[in-house]
Amino acid sequence: MKVLVLNGPNLGRLDIRDSSIYGDMSYADLVAHIVNAAKTHGFEADVRQSNDEAEIIGWLHEAADSNLPVIINPAAFTHYSYAIRDAAEMVKAPLIEVHLSNPLSREEFRHTSVISGVANGTIGGFGPNSYVLALIALKALLS
Ligand code: DQA
Repeated sequence: MKVLVLNGPNLGRLDIRDSSIYGDMSYADLVAHIVNAAKTHGFEADVRQSNDEAEIIGWLHEAADSNLPVIINPAAFTHYSYAIRDAAEMVKAPLIEVHLSNPLSREEFRHTSVISGVANGTIGGFGPNSYVLALIALKALLS
């Protein structure tokens, strides 16, 4: 089973972001971590990253049209993109929101997610393993 794993702005530059928050894994390492974990749990992960809201919306339309499950880290778009929220709402297969950090333990503007209300659930605070936990949750939702 294919799963789209979508990553929002600045996640492609993980290795130069604050390592006390995001750890020291590069984006390439994160992708490998997700692809391997997906295989372990019976998925083929198509992992993508974009700094462009429109591109992410297009990928969510693709998931809606192809009935693909989605794991999404919308990054900063989490907190204000109603357009990504509306596109995520169209996805009828399970959609799980993930974060590397725990946004609820950070600045107040990160405490709001406009995406959570249209996600099956949200996992944050476990670094790269947030994605692994999302894959396990997805497997349970689909079985
Ligand atoms: C993030 C948390 C967001 O608040 C932030 O804007 C990001 C990354 C995370 O994975 O912890 O870019 O989504």
